Amino acid sequence: MKFYRVKQFIWAIEASFKKIDDSYISIYLNKNEIDMFNKLKKSDKYHCIRVCRDSLDLLKERNINMDEYLVGKAALLHDIGKAEYHLNLIEKAIIVLLDKFTKGKLRKYDNIKQINIYYNHPRVGYEMLKIHNYDKELLDVVRYHHKDKNEELKIDKIVDIISICDNKN
Ligand SMILES: [Fe+2]
Ligand SMILES: [Fe+2]
Repeated sequence: MKFYRVKQFIWAIEASFKKIDDSYISIYLNKNEIDMFNKLKKSDKYHCIRVCRDSLDLLKERNINMDEYLVGKAALLHDIGKAEYHLNLIEKAIIVLLDKFTKGKLRKYDNIKQINIYYNHPRVGYEMLKIHNYDKELLDVVRYHHKDKNEELKIDKIVDIISICDNKN
């Protein structure tokens, strides 16, 4: 867990030097979705791209029959709620620590925008997308990708695949 956080921190710094692969995201996102995606912070864009690649790899590895295009799109958009407010690295580090020390009770203070986006970005993202005509499966990914983190995940829904890959990235 600790190592994972360090890895995330290094990825976030690395992200500022790298260029986003526009041709990759345009396989799965249309023009409007690319505009939305581009409102994410660069490190979040990289995170979503890693989740997308891993999710599609997982489908192949386990021979899972799912709509790859929908999985790719859902993976790239799963954290879209984070576009509403960009947590900087320091804010994120403080919230991660406080979350640990308060055993999640920090969540109560979601009138503070940084805390709100950290815990509630799935709901914020869901609200952003539900006005468009999206597949329920995609909306479920955005809304529930942090649910049941401690339960063993089955892999028969897109949200399961993306949650597994989200936890590794
Ligand atoms: Fe998330
Ligand atoms: Fe994520």
